Amino acid sequence: MSNLEKNKVTRRDALKLIGVGGAGLLIGATGIEAATDKVTNFFTPNKVDASELLPFYGEHQQGITTPAQDFMYLASFQLETTSKNEIKTLFKKWTEAAATLSEGKEIGDSDVLSSPPADTGEAIGLQPMKLTFTFGVGPSFFDKLSIQSKRPSQLKDLPHFPGDDLREEWNGGDIAVQVCANDQQVAFHGLRNLIRIGRGIVSLKWMQHGFQRSQGSDPSGSTPRNLMGFKDGTANPNPKDKDEMNKHVWIQNDNTPTWLAGGSYLVARRIRIRVEEWDRSTLNDQEATFGRHRQSGAPLGEKDEFAELNVKKKDSNGNLMIPADSHVALARGNGKVKILRRSYSYTDGLDIQTGKLDAGLLFVSFQQDIEKQFIPLQEKLAKMDLLNEYIEHNGSAVFACFGGVKKGSYIGEGLI
Ligand code: HEM
Repeated sequence: MSNLEKNKVTRRDALKLIGVGGAGLLIGATGIEAATDKVTNFFTPNKVDASELLPFYGEHQQGITTPAQDFMYLASFQLETTSKNEIKTLFKKWTEAAATLSEGKEIGDSDVLSSPPADTGEAIGLQPMKLTFTFGVGPSFFDKLSIQSKRPSQLKDLPHFPGDDLREEWNGGDIAVQVCANDQQVAFHGLRNLIRIGRGIVSLKWMQHGFQRSQGSDPSGSTPRNLMGFKDGTANPNPKDKDEMNKHVWIQNDNTPTWLAGGSYLVARRIRIRVEEWDRSTLNDQEATFGRHRQSGAPLGEKDEFAELNVKKKDSNGNLMIPADSHVALARGNGKVKILRRSYSYTDGLDIQTGKLDAGLLFVSFQQDIEKQFIPLQEKLAKMDLLNEYIEHNGSAVFACFGGVKKGSYIGEGLI
């Protein structure tokens, strides 16, 4: 039987799907045909769209200034070897696999009956769905391979911030791989195959999935909302603005080693949101916490999401419109320190210890300089952000993401 035939919905299936059982409900023949047609359409192939493909090779790695896809996996690996050669070979294999998978193709030979298929198969026939891979290395990578002299001086674990409640199972790691796509199965398949290729050389330390509203449910492409119901990303620097990206995101000074030039530092913080407490707070408190209106995303007192955010503006009674300890007032500061946020919501179901939801924000930001950008920002927020009442940072990691990879080269070339 051909795949097409297998996928065809039988009339009997269609009847089940539209809820017509043996209860004797009468439906006209044309009604059944129309319903059957609709259900059959459910399986009809979409046209392959070239815009679904983001090539792996390029000036910078994908997944940094790429507009955030619907789903992400962030995986942190630990080395199971101290051999530079084994890691080099792995990096070459991962490069090849990432380039092939981002084109929507299967990896390796999967038709030899006497051996396990090279590709795990769950993305066969699926489109690339803007699948991207972003690779980076953490501070411990350099220790484990005894190449400490190559570690960029600012690539070190973040300092302890007030209120941090970090759990070892969500911290650090030697290598990070961020996989994003507009289809969760495609994204998972991408990561799973890298895990498989790496078996024996690296193992997973932690892995977090992330989601946002899918672009299908919001064709206008408005700013996505986080799990606190607020638009999140409004005041991000524009990833299409090359000058802004050169100034705030890409690492590229004279002393930058070639493997890192055009790369970026990734900070990941797993931030749990106390959703139950948040859901009990008044709208007034919620808006004061962020300093923006929930519905429109506009700064308090304004109507438009993108209206100028003036942290000094006062109302007729002389009170600040945007509380000084609100999230945006503190995060904006003097407006000079900018990071590129590329966070996703997560939920890991129920916390059986407390009976509460384990859900929050997998905060991910890219920056040129962790010490000048992320650390001072987070120091300020950790001390007095009104948001702290509702959140708890329980995971933290930093990685140096490689510069873009040219065809024929591989991730981290020049590092090991
Ligand atoms: C669960 C944790 C967090 C939530 C729910 C959250 C949410 C938000 C929201 C709703 C906004 C306003 C809209 C926007 O401009 O995107 C915002 C702005 C911002 N957030 Fe956060 N955020 C969180 C954590 C953080 C952390 C850890 C940092 C960095 C250390 C950060 C940095 C910023 C910055 C730089 C802005 C833009 C401020 C401006 O220039 O207007 N956020 N955040």
